[in-house]
Amino acid sequence: MTSLSKAAVVARAPAKINLILRVGQPDQTGYHPLTTVFQALDMWDEVTVAQAETDRLDIDGDGDLSGVPTDSTNIVWRAVDALAEVTGHREPLHIAINKTIPVAGGMAGGSADAAATLVAVNELWQLGLSPEELEGIGRRLGADVPFSLLGGLALGEGRGDELTVLTRVNPLHCVVVTSDVTLSTPLVYSTLDDLREGVAVHLRDASGRELAAVTGAAMDGIGDILVNDLQPATLQCVPSIRGTLDAVAEAGALVSMVSGSGPTVWGACLDEAHSIEVANRMRSRGFAAKETVSTALGAHLTSPPSSPKEGR
Ligand code: C5P
Repeated sequence: MTSLSKAAVVARAPAKINLILRVGQPDQTGYHPLTTVFQALDMWDEVTVAQAETDRLDIDGDGDLSGVPTDSTNIVWRAVDALAEVTGHREPLHIAINKTIPVAGGMAGGSADAAATLVAVNELWQLGLSPEELEGIGRRLGADVPFSLLGGLALGEGRGDELTVLTRVNPLHCVVVTSDVTLSTPLVYSTLDDLREGVAVHLRDASGRELAAVTGAAMDGIGDILVNDLQPATLQCVPSIRGTLDAVAEAGALVSMVSGSGPTVWGACLDEAHSIEVANRMRSRGFAAKETVSTALGAHLTSPPSSPKEGR
């Protein structure tokens, strides 16, 4: 982009899926306590920031971007304002977002944009904020932003923002199937509350067996471990997702699940060749499917010169 000068700084942040997503009863703020295991995937939103005369935001990338706000309500401006509030530093910015993470798809695309913005602006303005300080600011922007900063594999507790790093043993290959429908996260959580009316819910911690299984030490029996409590609520909101879940299973994935609040669906595969096979079968049936792999990285600078694309 010509108007983004050579002083521009570029950062990117990954999409996430939840390998385990257990949801408790909402607290007085309306947020739900979670026991979740996040996995970052090798799918990235890239954010470029540069000094400008006045604030300006450009958005481009894959898929239908019409749902992404272009005004000051975009989470990237909330990220800039939060940095300004903490540091007292604010200059006009040109921000350009290049999206490959599905919009409102349950893969933390907005959180990735916020995380990449925090990292890029910290560098552009030479703020010198530590990863811990960025995490603290990220937490104020959204429950998934701390994980978008951290990446890799992590246990999330509290609102999903109290993170414990986990170490992946084997890469997780998977297929991600996007949908034309966008879904509001608060709607899915409130639908879950409605479905559970009158039912006492006890939020369980992740067991040692679960935590060992999600690292990829063994894929046997993974179908009994992976869980998404939001899935029935997502299906209630968008019943057609049942067809996508069935199609991913029929295409041969080990497990098919809704990603986060959805409507994106993902399937776990044995290895790269298997993920390509499953994705090809899905595409031949007309689905928007993409094979991908876990990454150990979170939000990071890609300029000056790029870190290689890293899957793990
Ligand atoms: O924090 P974030 O803005 O991503 O959350 C979006 C919405 O998702 C919240 O307003 C809330 O309705 C719901 N949510 C929740 N419990 C969580 C995380 C999100 O109820 N732990």
